[in-house]
Amino acid sequence: MAAINSSLKHKLAQFLLVLVLAYLFFRFGIPALALLLTGTPAPVPTHLLWAIYMPTMALVMLLFVSANEAAWREFKAPLRTLVVERERRGVVLLRQVILVALPLLAGLWAFFQVRPSADPPAELRSVHPAPPDSVTVDGEVINLRTAVNPFRGPDGLPDPEALAAGKAIYGRNCVYCHGDALDSDGLFASALRPRPADFTDPGTIAQLQESYLFWRIAQGGPGLPPEGKGWNSAMPAWEGTLSRDEIWQVILYLYDATGQHPRQAGE
Ligand code: HEC
Repeated sequence: MAAINSSLKHKLAQFLLVLVLAYLFFRFGIPALALLLTGTPAPVPTHLLWAIYMPTMALVMLLFVSANEAAWREFKAPLRTLVVERERRGVVLLRQVILVALPLLAGLWAFFQVRPSADPPAELRSVHPAPPDSVTVDGEVINLRTAVNPFRGPDGLPDPEALAAGKAIYGRNCVYCHGDALDSDGLFASALRPRPADFTDPGTIAQLQESYLFWRIAQGGPGLPPEGKGWNSAMPAWEGTLSRDEIWQVILYLYDATGQHPRQAGE
């Protein structure tokens, strides 16, 4: 105990101890505190940790250990011994180990940095991830497995008034991104990655059931599951802005204006 106590009074030991504690606090303490206070962990980004937080701590500790001549001499003494000692075999051995280990570690680090990886790039995303079972719009739970567009007759034809309403909704809300001709050529489109969906492309709405579109329009990019999140979708969530009926109406318009047909359940 006395030995630990006296070595803790040493400036070099204090320097190292504070840096280790600071690292543990930044790395684990801050996320844990954030979790406690806000319910979500907020990890400190690695590059900030090593570019700002740790160097600042090291600088502060260097100021501390060099505050006066005696402290500075005390701080340097073991480092000096490590470099110049000739008598004590233990110290000489330690120096040799460090001289071999440091370049080895640096080499290993460089190797792992440049080693090519066979993992798929993180940008891969599923364009049409599986939808959830239900969404809640206007306080009403809509079962996506069974939901059908209430504005289609038994023959599948759209109700003309609902279609006209859908067109107006599109013109007010969607045209800026998805474009006049529904081909993803809206004013904002070229600034967005991924681009807005091109509804004239047979790979988009023609592949999907209307209930799938209902989900995508209601919950937009924020509602995508993790496998769909790879890119930053700018597609807004319209629940709260458009009513349930308005979402079904704009869906009518998307199919009617492009001449596409929704996929039917079971197809
Ligand atoms: C701020 C730009 C923006 C606006 C406004 C916008 N969207 Fe989108 N939308 C996107 C982007 C970007 C995507 C592609 C990424 C994605 O799937 O989330 C997309 C995707 C979609 C999809 C998915 C198509 C598919 O193949 O999966 C649908 C459906 C859709 N939008 C409908 C609408 C409707 C209806 C409106 C208007 C009520 C609208 N969007 C308004 C940007 C926008």
